[in-house]
Amino acid sequence: MSNVEATRALTRDGAIKLHGPDAFRAMHKAGRLAAQALDMLVPYAVPGTTTERLDELILEFALDHKAIPATLNYRGYRHSICTSINHVVCHGMPSAKPLRDGDIVNIDVTLIVDGWHGDTSRMYGVGNVSRRAERLMDVTYRALQLGIEAVKPGNTTGHIGAAIQNYAEGERCSVVEDFCGHGLGQVFHDRPNILHYGKAGDGPVLKPGMIFTIEPMINLGKKDVKVLADGWTAVTRDRELSAQFEHTVVVTETGCEIFTLSPAGFDKPPYNIG
Ligand code: MF3
Ligand code: CO
Ligand code: CO
Repeated sequence: MSNVEATRALTRDGAIKLHGPDAFRAMHKAGRLAAQALDMLVPYAVPGTTTERLDELILEFALDHKAIPATLNYRGYRHSICTSINHVVCHGMPSAKPLRDGDIVNIDVTLIVDGWHGDTSRMYGVGNVSRRAERLMDVTYRALQLGIEAVKPGNTTGHIGAAIQNYAEGERCSVVEDFCGHGLGQVFHDRPNILHYGKAGDGPVLKPGMIFTIEPMINLGKKDVKVLADGWTAVTRDRELSAQFEHTVVVTETGCEIFTLSPAGFDKPPYNIG
């Protein structure tokens, strides 16, 4: 890198917002509400429910709690959630098609509360799920956890990506490279980009007050994806299963805190509702 480039890079790093206590409180509230919205869907993630119905339920929940789904009319997107089933990697659109026994579906919701964004997604198993699908969800959940454990001041965004990639590939899975986590706060998709692959030491240094998502998409087959003609739905090229979990986190003095933990304890399937 030349000197001029180095200076530009510094400026870019400097442009990552360091949030204070007011933002922390506001993001806690937004993150918690988004997680509660996903909790609310657990009993509906069963064979026969349409993803359109899940979308309506989230919109009602949001409006009842003085929140707005951030994806509504975002860059032409028309729904309150993304519903990504089986080989759909992300940005699947709710439709009139019912969920089927054995499906695995990621539901991704971003709620704006008092101007602040809480962004989280989870996998749901519909009815009886195959062992390989269950294993993929376990690996993806663990990959997110390991990424979160790499969040502390002095590490870089590359430590997060490396932790996720090393683990996922060790489990004979692949990491999608076409989509990444992102800074957020009052802006939905902000700096920094959080790649889910890479090398420890790459990317900007993490500092207390940075807020971003980590949202690895992990495939059972190859990492390659394509976006369908609708302009949104991303699918695996080999049509193998893909899974994703997402949390919003803040860097603290000693590590990090997760804003989007499930109040009901529904962080990872199977969700036992008694
Ligand atoms: N919630 C998704 C994320 O994690 C973004 C969805 S963008 C949409 O960043 F436009 F597809 F809705
Ligand atoms: Co996100
Ligand atoms: Co999201």
